[in-house]
Amino acid sequence: MNRLTLTLTTLFATACVWAGDNAPVNGDVWLDTSLNPINAHGGGIMRHGDTYYWYGEYKGEETYRSPDVGWECYRTDFTGVSCYSSTDLINWKFEGIVLSPDAENPSSDIHPTMVVERPKVIYNDNTGKFVMWMHIDNANYWQATAGVAVSDSPTGPFTFIEAVRPNNAESRDLTVYKDDDGHAYLIYSSEGNATLYISRLTDDYLKQTGVFTRNFAGESREAPAIFKHNGKYYIITSGCSGWSPNEAAYAVADNVMGPYQLLPNPCTGVDADKTFYCQSTFALPLPDGSFLAMFDRWKKDDLVDSRYVWLPISFSEEGMTIPWSENWTDTTPDMTPLSQE
Ligand code: GAL
Repeated sequence: MNRLTLTLTTLFATACVWAGDNAPVNGDVWLDTSLNPINAHGGGIMRHGDTYYWYGEYKGEETYRSPDVGWECYRTDFTGVSCYSSTDLINWKFEGIVLSPDAENPSSDIHPTMVVERPKVIYNDNTGKFVMWMHIDNANYWQATAGVAVSDSPTGPFTFIEAVRPNNAESRDLTVYKDDDGHAYLIYSSEGNATLYISRLTDDYLKQTGVFTRNFAGESREAPAIFKHNGKYYIITSGCSGWSPNEAAYAVADNVMGPYQLLPNPCTGVDADKTFYCQSTFALPLPDGSFLAMFDRWKKDDLVDSRYVWLPISFSEEGMTIPWSENWTDTTPDMTPLSQE
């Protein structure tokens, strides 16, 4: 790279990060405050005090196809779960790898040869611990387990506890949800990804209570993102087509464990039928009472270069929509940093 290119690249990168009140453009490379691409895929955000913490899959540089697997099983080695912090959801500081692979033990569930996806973190007010749940699998995705790790600090390090089949059922794509009353739930695709389970966690959030519901049986929904709005629970999901995009759907219920009414694709605008070439991962409540839907735009043959798309969620008499926009701050003006609330 010559000096002019380097200068232009640096100027461009700086412009992307410090673009005033505007979030980076959806689908562009998003940079952290050290001007490195943000590497936090399949992620979720936890707000704790004045700070947002974004956890995600820290994808390794090399994408390869798992040998001896019939379907398009592209993957990277497990190189950790990353964490970034921010007070404005635009400027993200890299806090490092908060759950590291266990390279020493070949039979560890977090060995680099394993699959660790969709990490989500919640805080337990009673134990004072931060609890991470994540999808843990072997190279061909047949292990189908949920892993749990714990930390005293939002920025880790997290200590891995175990990977289990919750309620003796398969678990692949998942999220974890902490309700207003402090109860928390693991929500996971099960039964060959055909059915979405919602399972109440124990008070320490580390195990299942045995109380669970089976939702959307036979509908094959995955990539769940849940939130609560005006006393109702909403879950955004994708269909099942691996790294390739498909049509989203959403569901509404009066109770967190259902029954849910499955409703059509909430996305509107160009490429809405392919969820804007994205897949849901999380729904974030904002301080003004609105919600941000977080998506991954996967690049299956270069997974580390997968991009982020965040879009505001709209509500009307007819229900919920997620209209396309280039930049989520276009339509969500309240960017007050948390410390100034
Ligand atoms: C998707 C899933 C991703 C990843 C991928 C592997 O369906 O949502 O998290 O597991 O399959 O092909």
